[in-house]
Amino acid sequence: MRVSNESPLLLKIVSNQRPIGIFDSGFGGLTVARAVIDLLPEEDVVYFGDTARYPYGPQPLEQVREYAEQITNLLISKHDVKMVVIACNTAAAAALGSLGEALEIPVVGVIEPGAQAVIEVSRRKRIGVIGTVGTISSGAYQKTIEEIAGINAEVTCIPCPGFVEFVERGESSGEQIQILAQRLLAPIVEADVDALLLGCTHYPYLARTIGSTVGESVVLVSSADETAFAVAKILKETNLETSQRKLGNRTFISTGDVSWFAELGQRLFGPELESAESHEWSTGS
Ligand code: DGL
Repeated sequence: MRVSNESPLLLKIVSNQRPIGIFDSGFGGLTVARAVIDLLPEEDVVYFGDTARYPYGPQPLEQVREYAEQITNLLISKHDVKMVVIACNTAAAAALGSLGEALEIPVVGVIEPGAQAVIEVSRRKRIGVIGTVGTISSGAYQKTIEEIAGINAEVTCIPCPGFVEFVERGESSGEQIQILAQRLLAPIVEADVDALLLGCTHYPYLARTIGSTVGESVVLVSSADETAFAVAKILKETNLETSQRKLGNRTFISTGDVSWFAELGQRLFGPELESAESHEWSTGS
């Protein structure tokens, strides 16, 4: 509480005007940021892409948890965010629990919304999940889907190392990615799933390749929209919805090459991503 003589109403408005912080290892979380901004256009958003330290997927979960905590601290201390959205499955698998316990502001991950969405669209409850090595080996999806759907769902979880790197390089189609997709997704085709969850926020950018590999009858599910709905619900429940009636401010931060972040980011996200600010990690930052 900053000023003791402010009215409670004023305090509420001031605190609601704070931005939503969204982060990922790089460009992937832009799929979630897009859905949040489309659903809640008046909210201010700060997006943080840790491109200097991507990919998170092959790194130990302990390390990824440290990154997630560091970014969250920065979003809170420097940008005064009112909510943190972990728009990265690997970071959510590693740190949602610890951050949720430690923070006073709401923290939203992508795993539960994604699991919920894929269960809803799967008619035969033969579900596929693809993600990074870190996400799949954490068992987070297997556990969450079983908790929601019970043991009746048959779940095939497959890691797809290499997909993220294609997206970060700006390659979403072509022979190389097609060959990799055919090899990695063979167990999904084999398992005869009817719905496939893109359990990495980078993968929606590869949806055409993934879709053509697994076949048209398989419904592809991204966690972006469901996560945005979860964000809207929590803001409402916690009285943290913005009261401003103009388009929110958007700030994009990258720890890597900011001109590349702006160039590829604009292609992936849209014209609002005109430029990116730089953040360099140093000891204690
Ligand atoms: N986009 C991230 C996810 O959803 C991870 C990408 C990475 O490996 O850095 O898991």
